[in-house]
Amino acid sequence: METMKKKWDDRYARENYAYGTTPNDFFKEILDKYNLSGKILLPAEGEGRNAVYAAKKGLTPFAFDTSTEGRNKALKLAAKENIEINYEVGDFFELPLTKEKFDVAALIFAHFPPALLSSYHKKTAELLKPGGLIILEGFSVGHLELRKANPKVGGPDNVEMLFSLDSIKNDFKEFEIIQLEEVKVELHEGDFHNGVGKVIRFVGKKPE
Ligand SMILES: C[S@@+](CC[C@H](N)C(=O)[O-])C[C@H]1O[C@@H](n2cnc3c(N)ncnc32)[C@H](O)[C@@H]1O
Repeated sequence: METMKKKWDDRYARENYAYGTTPNDFFKEILDKYNLSGKILLPAEGEGRNAVYAAKKGLTPFAFDTSTEGRNKALKLAAKENIEINYEVGDFFELPLTKEKFDVAALIFAHFPPALLSSYHKKTAELLKPGGLIILEGFSVGHLELRKANPKVGGPDNVEMLFSLDSIKNDFKEFEIIQLEEVKVELHEGDFHNGVGKVIRFVGKKPE
């Protein structure tokens, strides 16, 4: 866990924003399409690009990550944009934000070690209010081949950290599926996501 934290802290300690300062395309598309309001949970939020966009759209972001440098950069971005975000550093299961309930949750390239992945998904689902929406984009198992051909596209090289249509259906069993697909996308996100990748995109609604 410590080496994982160091990897991300090192990446975020640079001046540049590793995945840029503009929101992820799919996240933006869904926020722009549905008139969402209330509190949004953003696990593994990194340098804050999506939290800042959510705040601009009138949502109240509650982000967290294990990276202290990620939080520093996120708060810097929020201050530059003159908006406020809540951002905690630490382990999901011990954070004060787990006392809240959320209208929306977004998992954007939130790839965790296999021992944590399903429990993080279940915890995220549990923290949504009835009728709450989950938005997820993450690299699929099929992405590995593309990553091998072009490492600049990024993403984990451990197949157990990647998603499939079945793993998402399984982790969010009770959710109504609004959108679930595996698609090829052209990514241009900062210095670390560049090129064609394969992702799972999911929008699901927790039962009322
Ligand atoms: C690819 S980055 C995605 C960042 C952000 N969601 C985005 O799209 O810009 C993955 C993030 O997962 C975070 N992370 C890794 N393991 C974690 C854990 N166990 N709990 C919380 N965050 C974690 C890393 O620190 C990193 O910020």
